[in-house]
Amino acid sequence: MSDAPPIEPLIELQQVTKVYGSGSTAFAALKGVDLRVRAGEFVAIMGPSGSGKSTALNVLGCLDRPSSGAYRFRGVHVERLDRDQRALLRRHFLGFVFQGFNLLARTSALENVELPLIYRGMPARERHAAAAAALADVGLAGWEHHTPGELSGGQQQRVAIARAIVTQPAVLLADEPTGNLDTARSVEIMALLARLNLERGITILMVTHEPDMAAWAQRVVHFRDGRIQSDEVNPHPTRAPEMPALATEAG
Ligand SMILES: Nc1ncnc2c1ncn2[C@@H]1O[C@H](COP(=O)(O)OP(=O)(O)O)[C@@H](O)[C@H]1O
Ligand SMILES: [Mg+2]
Repeated sequence: MSDAPPIEPLIELQQVTKVYGSGSTAFAALKGVDLRVRAGEFVAIMGPSGSGKSTALNVLGCLDRPSSGAYRFRGVHVERLDRDQRALLRRHFLGFVFQGFNLLARTSALENVELPLIYRGMPARERHAAAAAALADVGLAGWEHHTPGELSGGQQQRVAIARAIVTQPAVLLADEPTGNLDTARSVEIMALLARLNLERGITILMVTHEPDMAAWAQRVVHFRDGRIQSDEVNPHPTRAPEMPALATEAG
């Protein structure tokens, strides 16, 4: 149990279920999940393979709808929104980072980061500047014109994080963001996420199966068999020895 003050949570799941298939092949990946997340929290989601972590993250990210139960985001009932409304919510409030980076090949780092801004209809000049600033935020100033194939795995994930934060989302959802990286690169990514959480106030929900990575979060939620098995505060989250300040952003 967290000692949450009685304020409206940013995110609230109530008895959320997710059933795949129907009839005799129906499979309940989520079996009644209750979760409240306050703005500014950094939450790690752990649990064995197949326990429903990605399913939960997809529901939280409005990529998928619950089969039953309620999902409120800033008080809005997400389960009542149609596909277009959910897309709008995603575009304006959420950023995503995946294990496999999901960058466009043969496309520069700058253009990859600009993509979400194109969907928003931002003029080119403004877009280039915002994307370059986001790349600088993740330590990739000078790498704007390199394509993913010319970057290391750690650098590619940092481009993906720049793409996720360029829209200044309220929430960053990350599904095993260090799953394809070695330990040193993983620690760099975690230090970056921790800084974005602390200095920008971005709420982070991160799936990981690595205890060392979960240790960076302020709270660890364990899934088991489609349910939350435990939900605990981490009193001493890992901190990088030196966390350089982020460039302050206008707007
Ligand atoms: N699209 C789908 N159709 C059918 N079953 C699915 C689908 N997605 C996930 N599942 C099943 O739901 C369970 C939970 O999956 P998932 O949330 O991906 O687990 P985790 O991320 O914890 O490894 C697994 O048994 C998986 O096989
Ligand atoms: Mg998964």
